[in-house]
Amino acid sequence: PNKVNSICCIGAGYVGGPTMAVIAKQCPHLKVTVVDVNKDRIAAWNDECLDNLPIYEPGLSEVVAEARGRNLFFSTDIVSAIKESQMIFISVNTPTKTYGVGKGMAADLKFVELCARQIAEIANEDKIIVEKSTLPVRTAQSIKQILSAYQNGCQFRVLSNPEFLAEGTAISDLLNADRVLIGSEDDELGKRAEEALVDIYSHWIPKERIIRTRIWSSELSKLTANAFLAQRVSSINAISALCEQTGADVDEVAHAIGMDSRIGSKFLKSSVGFGGSCFQKDILNLVYLCRHFNLPEVADYWEQVVHLNDYQKHRFSKKIIDTLFNTVSGKKIAFLGWAFKKNTNDTRESASIYIADELLQDQAEIHIYDPKVSEQQIFSDLEFLQNNRREYHLNNTSQFEAMSMDKIRKLVHVHSDPYAAMHKAHAIAVLTEWDEFKTYDWQRIYKDMLKPAFTFDGRNILSKRMLDEIGFETYNIGKGD
Ligand code: NAD
Ligand code: UDX
Repeated sequence: PNKVNSICCIGAGYVGGPTMAVIAKQCPHLKVTVVDVNKDRIAAWNDECLDNLPIYEPGLSEVVAEARGRNLFFSTDIVSAIKESQMIFISVNTPTKTYGVGKGMAADLKFVELCARQIAEIANEDKIIVEKSTLPVRTAQSIKQILSAYQNGCQFRVLSNPEFLAEGTAISDLLNADRVLIGSEDDELGKRAEEALVDIYSHWIPKERIIRTRIWSSELSKLTANAFLAQRVSSINAISALCEQTGADVDEVAHAIGMDSRIGSKFLKSSVGFGGSCFQKDILNLVYLCRHFNLPEVADYWEQVVHLNDYQKHRFSKKIIDTLFNTVSGKKIAFLGWAFKKNTNDTRESASIYIADELLQDQAEIHIYDPKVSEQQIFSDLEFLQNNRREYHLNNTSQFEAMSMDKIRKLVHVHSDPYAAMHKAHAIAVLTEWDEFKTYDWQRIYKDMLKPAFTFDGRNILSKRMLDEIGFETYNIGKGD
């Protein structure tokens, strides 16, 4: 195999940072450099105080503390990192396009293309390029085409090595991966490159969990895995609506079907809707690819997973408005949670953004508490939505007019104390499943609220019986009377 003693990763985000930190921890002989164009992000990765790392993941700061400065480096010097590495991971963002052809559907590959061009320009010896970002099928071909067009005498091999970590559990997912997937080209040089990457993972991943496939299968497996996972959430969420109408309990249904080993019990938690930077983006990307290859039935099938998710978010905000006597104008609604799931500070595509938006359209006053998300992030999420409303909404909220940030700032308040957020509130909406919400003094919260005191549990984490006994008017996803 190719001799690899130095690797680098372009993109120091939610994937690049933790992935490289774990490789550095497990392979102390390997020099690992993570580079990014974002100076602030790199400075945060280098911050003496580990509380200031740019992303929050349980266990991450310990891994960084162990490896940083030893064989793990964060830098903005992309040129040097490319020069001295034999293997280069591309882990840049691939968001949904917000302009032009494929707007609102296709993956925007401009950052990936830029990386390929930069590598080709700088490289002075052979390199292995590893696609870590989630990409449409056959992107490796485009990358190769760019690389080979430079004709600088260097050989470039492209591997696909999609990342399956979930946020909030990134470190344990990386350390105990169900599988590592490596796609390579079917020739001698491709196999040698593949062997070099297998060598790295073999330091801690059992050989039988390292899957080797054709490069196109690997690229497509990533989109497919996310589509299947999201489909499970949309499936149980679809049933949650029926449960509410029929007096069934969605958690009981999930438990009953999950005991069937063919179905399995994981990923059947009904919620206010899935969020995160991946599910919606990757399904839309898959749908776009299917339409591109003239497979409209397949495209429609997967698109429905996203429609159902929009429906679930909309259903929740509508429930709040309906229950509060058909208007939330001037009413104080407390949000517990803003992140798209617990144990992360990531808010991309979080359901809470869309719930807030619908309530703001009805002139609600929203008071938000999240243990890890900053005020600045919350306002930037709301602003992003105002600017991208038509591209991102598939459901009927696209009819809404964009709101001015002045107005939003008047109506939205961010708190560092949860009790202050809920003080004199008309209603509480639980939007993220943070464990600490369960430990609050709910008696005290009840006393402090306006009556009737409503709770809308979008995660089913609070005990309905306990809240009912205290006197709350409770609504839970998927729990009929
Ligand atoms: P991110 O936005 O957190 O990080 C991407 C980083 O790349 C940013 O810091 C950005 O500044 C940097 N970047 C962009 N262009 C650059 C360039 N030309 N040179 C140097 N740096 C550049 O994104 P992320 O969540 O880490 O996701 C990265 C990829 O991994 C995406 O394709 C995503 O779909 C995929 N993925 C994400 C997850 C997840 O849980 N977040 C999981 C699996 C796969
Ligand atoms: C996902 C995939 O799980 C991961 O393999 C991939 O690499 C990236 O995308 P992530 O988005 O970080 O990971 O988190 P995940 O745990 O999958 O949750 C996604 C969303 O679905 C969250 O909003 C979560 O709250 C929601 N969800 C998940 C449910 O509503 N119910 C469930 O049962 C599971």
